[in-house]
Amino acid sequence: MTAFIDHLDRLFATRGSEPYGEDVSVLEHCLQCAALARHEGADEALVAAALLHDVGHLIEDPDDGFGVHAHDKGGAAFLTPHFPDSVVEPVRLHVAAKRYRVAVEPAYRDRLSKASIHTLAHQGGPMSQDEVAVFAANPHHEGAIRVREWDDAGKIEGLDVASFSAYRDMLTRLAR
Ligand SMILES: [Fe+2]
Repeated sequence: MTAFIDHLDRLFATRGSEPYGEDVSVLEHCLQCAALARHEGADEALVAAALLHDVGHLIEDPDDGFGVHAHDKGGAAFLTPHFPDSVVEPVRLHVAAKRYRVAVEPAYRDRLSKASIHTLAHQGGPMSQDEVAVFAANPHHEGAIRVREWDDAGKIEGLDVASFSAYRDMLTRLAR
């Protein structure tokens, strides 16, 4: 397992600075999301989900200047062999959480970054009524919505936060 955490560490170190349409790099963004999760007292699985939610941008070539469109599904598939559902499912659902909130709370769109609004179109736009019902019935939907909150907030240039290594012990505890 340590080998996989080494692999994650290297991915963020080598590819985390690639642009993806935001003012911060993927690495800065993911570290800010994890710091926000910790600050709010989230459990370790959700802190890990916040840290790893955008790993899908680092394992495939980008579709355009906004990164990998299907990074939610790709990231979840990448993590599935190594982490429990409590980590993987909020990763898989963090884009769905955006589509859900835009559907049920239209004012939420105003809080999204330009890049998030751009990618929303590629991701299917606001959920339909049926999709909203399916999402709300998923036991991991609340975790996904929290990750999404941190996702939207963790885009501040130059913020000083803990590095990836600060989360290594936690990831080791969570790993299968
Ligand atoms: Fe994100």
